[in-house]
Amino acid sequence: MILTEMLPEHIGGVKALLDVCFGESAWSVDMIRAQLEKPDSRSMAALDEGMIVGYLAFEQIVDEGSIVEVAVHPDHRRRGIAQRLIESAIRNAGALSVVFLEVRESNVPAIALYEKIGFERIGIRKDYYDNPKENAVIMKYNGVTYENTGNRKQL
Ligand SMILES: CC(C)(COP(=O)(O)OP(=O)(O)OC[C@H]1O[C@@H](n2cnc3c(N)ncnc32)[C@H](O)[C@@H]1OP(=O)(O)O)[C@@H](O)C(=O)NCCC(=O)NCCS
Repeated sequence: MILTEMLPEHIGGVKALLDVCFGESAWSVDMIRAQLEKPDSRSMAALDEGMIVGYLAFEQIVDEGSIVEVAVHPDHRRRGIAQRLIESAIRNAGALSVVFLEVRESNVPAIALYEKIGFERIGIRKDYYDNPKENAVIMKYNGVTYENTGNRKQL
C-alpha cells in the first residue's frame, strides 16, 4: 500500500471508491475533479496493487487546515490507512496551527478515528446534513506537533 498525491488519472478510481463508501450521496466526477484542481487544496490517494483504496481531501487557508473528505474501501479498513492519510496531510501542510472538520453525529467509526488522532469535539451544527437530516459534530485538532516540512512530496 502506498500513499501518493492524487493525479487526474485517479479520478475514476476515486469515484468508484466514494460510490462504495457513500452510495447516493457520493461526490460526482466533476466534484472530485474540482476538488483536485482547487487552489489551497490537496487530494491524496492510497493505492493497493494499483487500486485506489483510500482518498483524502484536505484544504488549508493560511495556518488553518480542514479535512473535507476521507474514505477507505470497506475491504481495507482498520489497517491504519485513514490515519496515515490524515497524519501525512497534516505533517506536510507547512505552517499549520489548527485543523477543523465536520462529521455526522452517527458516524462512530469516523469520530473514533479523529479522536484517536487527537481531534476534540468543540460543538454541534444542527441539521447540517441532508439525506438523512442530521447534526454535524465539529471537531478541532490543536496538536500540530509534527515537524512540518512543507515538502509536499514527503508522504
Ligand atoms: C472512517 C474511515 C475513513 C476509517 O478508515 P480506516 O482506514 O478503517 O481507519 P484506520 O484503520 O486508520 O483507523 C484508525 C483508528 O480509528 C478508529 N476506528 C476506525 N474505524 C473504526 C470503527 N469501525 N470502529 C471503532 N473505531 C474505529 C480506531 O481507533 C482505529 O485504530 P485501531 O484500528 O488501532 O483501533 C472508514 O471507516 C470509511 O471510509 N468510512 C466511510 C466513509 C466515512 O464515513 N468517512 C468519513 C466522513 S467524515
